[in-house]
Amino acid sequence: MTKEELIAEAFKAMKNSYAPYSRYHVGACIETTDGKKFWGANIENASYGATNCAERSAVFAAYSNGYRKDTIKALAIVSDGPRIAAPCGICRQVLSELLNEDTPIYLTNGKEEVTSCMKELLPMQFSQEDVIR
Ligand code: THU
Repeated sequence: MTKEELIAEAFKAMKNSYAPYSRYHVGACIETTDGKKFWGANIENASYGATNCAERSAVFAAYSNGYRKDTIKALAIVSDGPRIAAPCGICRQVLSELLNEDTPIYLTNGKEEVTSCMKELLPMQFSQEDVIR
């Protein structure tokens, strides 16, 4: 799949966003090494705190179906906001454990586009190595 195709899939997922509170819609799509796709959207909650972000939804879907960091090829995260959809701090922590540090992450709002990776988005992360000794 090309980067453009993966981004198009993330925009499809964004249509399933449930965001009655922020009205900020986010979609994500993961491509696996065997060519499967896992979609995610932000799903909000009246408690606010129980909201799940799109990229966490997508990576949890991939993991729930047996995929792991070495079988995840790329992630696209898109939004309808005025700027690129840069992952929030909680998502950076989660993605830093569940993706390889150099797995490409495409961020776009349809106007601007950036390719990044977890090494760049969360340097000096708190990780498995800190707690498993
Ligand atoms: N959101 C995401 O889905 N991903 C991010 O990385 C940033 C924030 C969602 C959470 C909430 O539903 C809305 O965007 C506003 O914060």
